[in-house]
Amino acid sequence: MVFYVKQGKLPESRHTYDNRNELRREELFGEDSFEGAYSLLYHLNEPTRIKSFREVKKDVEKKTDNLYMHRHLKTGSLDRKGSIVDGKQTVMMNDRIKIQILKPKDHSEDTFYRNALYEMLFFIHEGSGKMVSPMGILNFSQGDYLYVPKGLTFRLDYDSPCYILIFQSMDDITIPTRYLNRYGQLKEGTPYYSRDIRVPVLQKPQNNKGSFKIFIEYEDRFIEEEMDMNPLDVEGWDGYLYPFAINVSSMAPIVGKLHMPPPVHETFSSKSMMVGTFLPRKFDFHPRSVPISYYHNNIDVDEFLFYSSGNFMSRKGIEPGSITLHVRGITHGPQPGAVEGALGKEGTDEVAVMIETYDHLWLTDTGKKIEVPDYNMSWYN
Ligand SMILES: [Fe+2]
Repeated sequence: MVFYVKQGKLPESRHTYDNRNELRREELFGEDSFEGAYSLLYHLNEPTRIKSFREVKKDVEKKTDNLYMHRHLKTGSLDRKGSIVDGKQTVMMNDRIKIQILKPKDHSEDTFYRNALYEMLFFIHEGSGKMVSPMGILNFSQGDYLYVPKGLTFRLDYDSPCYILIFQSMDDITIPTRYLNRYGQLKEGTPYYSRDIRVPVLQKPQNNKGSFKIFIEYEDRFIEEEMDMNPLDVEGWDGYLYPFAINVSSMAPIVGKLHMPPPVHETFSSKSMMVGTFLPRKFDFHPRSVPISYYHNNIDVDEFLFYSSGNFMSRKGIEPGSITLHVRGITHGPQPGAVEGALGKEGTDEVAVMIETYDHLWLTDTGKKIEVPDYNMSWYN
């Protein structure tokens, strides 16, 4: 993240103690070994105090697809399943990214979870709840993006049935560098501001005994750790690495006299993808503008869209929860009649999440099961 956060009680200087009779256990929570963004957490107890370890094998998601076409998937037909540990359903992937749907079955999760390999970016399509981590409580609701750094221990509690889109990325997901000034502050003219970003609120540290399980996810296995002291034992933390949330309703779309291309909708970026958000907005104000996308051929990227709410006027048969994938090299654009239908329209209420990936995305078996056949012929029929 780009700004410094400090919460709770901290020693006066890092790597020191204030009272030798009340020693706190300092943990550096950081990325890129000791080179990347980090925070310092002060635990009441040693975070290494693990009573038992167990290895649990898991299914490895595979790119089972070999069709190179534009695709349409309806994630609405996926069943509710499990928890953050065992309920993420991967529908598309490449070697750096997994795209998943989480529709958890239970209201709250009694185990903690940590992803050892991937950053996670959640988009809350439906429902609300809270992420509980040693850094505090972060509430989330429909329309939120929720960023979860690699290696964060957390649990999810749901207030209502949730339906969540998840991007798992091996590469850091950050605020686009071009949005930041030389002090790291979000510039004027960007679609959101630092004030719109919510961070966890640290709670009173827990010092109770019990059985606390943490599932740490790797590619083909979990390591299940059992602690006998509550992991929510942080008395204070400070730094630049923490989960955060931002709601699409607080974002300000960039609009213009003529049609604006996808980079103006950029929200986050990483080495392997660009994340953008199509927000409710006024259309282009030239009196004879065509207020809809032109035909294009995404050389160098695959274009993924998740349709969350509103009226998706350029596409037939799209419903909330639909995903389209438009692959590089094959032209796509408005479907027959869409341009004529758009002329004279003044705005849209759509909310859709886009990613452009620099490597091709392939469907998994789960993705293929929810595919709408012959989408690639929908411009002809
Ligand atoms: Fe496109």
